[in-house]
Amino acid sequence: MSTTLGVPRPDQASYMLRAAAGDAGRAYKRQMLDLLDIRAGHTVLDAGCGPGTDLPALAERVGDGGTVIGVDRDPAMLERARARTEGLRRVELREGDVHALPVEPGTMDRAKIDRVLMHVDDPAEVLAQLHRATRPGARVGLAEPDWDTLIVDAEDLDTSRAFTRYTTAEVVRNATVGRGLVRLAERAGFRVEAVHATTPVFRDFQEADHTLGLGRNLQKAIDGGHIDRDRGHRWFAGLSQGPFYASFTLVGVVCSR
Ligand SMILES: C[S@@+](CC[C@H](N)C(=O)[O-])C[C@H]1O[C@@H](n2cnc3c(N)ncnc32)[C@H](O)[C@@H]1O
Repeated sequence: MSTTLGVPRPDQASYMLRAAAGDAGRAYKRQMLDLLDIRAGHTVLDAGCGPGTDLPALAERVGDGGTVIGVDRDPAMLERARARTEGLRRVELREGDVHALPVEPGTMDRAKIDRVLMHVDDPAEVLAQLHRATRPGARVGLAEPDWDTLIVDAEDLDTSRAFTRYTTAEVVRNATVGRGLVRLAERAGFRVEAVHATTPVFRDFQEADHTLGLGRNLQKAIDGGHIDRDRGHRWFAGLSQGPFYASFTLVGVVCSR
């Protein structure tokens, strides 16, 4: 019987809203929206909109004459998005898979996909779908972390490295998609206009445990024989006592069709 480490798996919608509300979350999202150059009257697609994190900001930018379409495959996320956009008549929510976007081909003026490609079966197919959905001249924004860049300060750096390796190999499906965004975009037929990388920094252990799943994923790594139990527990106890530092790289690409 193992001791469970860290906070329990958080409610996903709250986790996403919380991650987006931090300084780093706000900064890269604002930068992405600015680079997308969304104008009044545009039709904008938010592919994998989650709990509707960005839908109010998109609705504000398209104005009364525009339309924002949020697509997600998870009905619970769409429910949260519906509550978040209540009263915003120019927001439409559609249940669907980003591998088969439920929009008319060639009708989107702008599209964005933010921290979704890391979870999907086939990122290249999703890029092809975004290409198909957008008009010639449209701009498309992509943002994804690269979990191979996760660094956690600890005296036992080998366990920090083992934790990052485990996260990359076993926890996140497409953990290194961040570094591949430029390649994916160009291969799908887009022209890359801007690339930026931001580094969300965690100084608070509880926040990092919640967002990065330090305890949850360490427990799985121990149970799967990837990290020694005693060493893992000592590593985690050391982190919880602080001072704490962890960070990773998030890559943003804005391209045009
Ligand atoms: C980390 S959340 C990001 C949500 C939002 N883009 C944001 O920035 O807050 C990932 C979202 O992608 C959705 N998702 C994952 N795979 C999907 C797929 N194949 N089709 C549609 N939505 C998908 C999940 O349901 C979830 O809402």
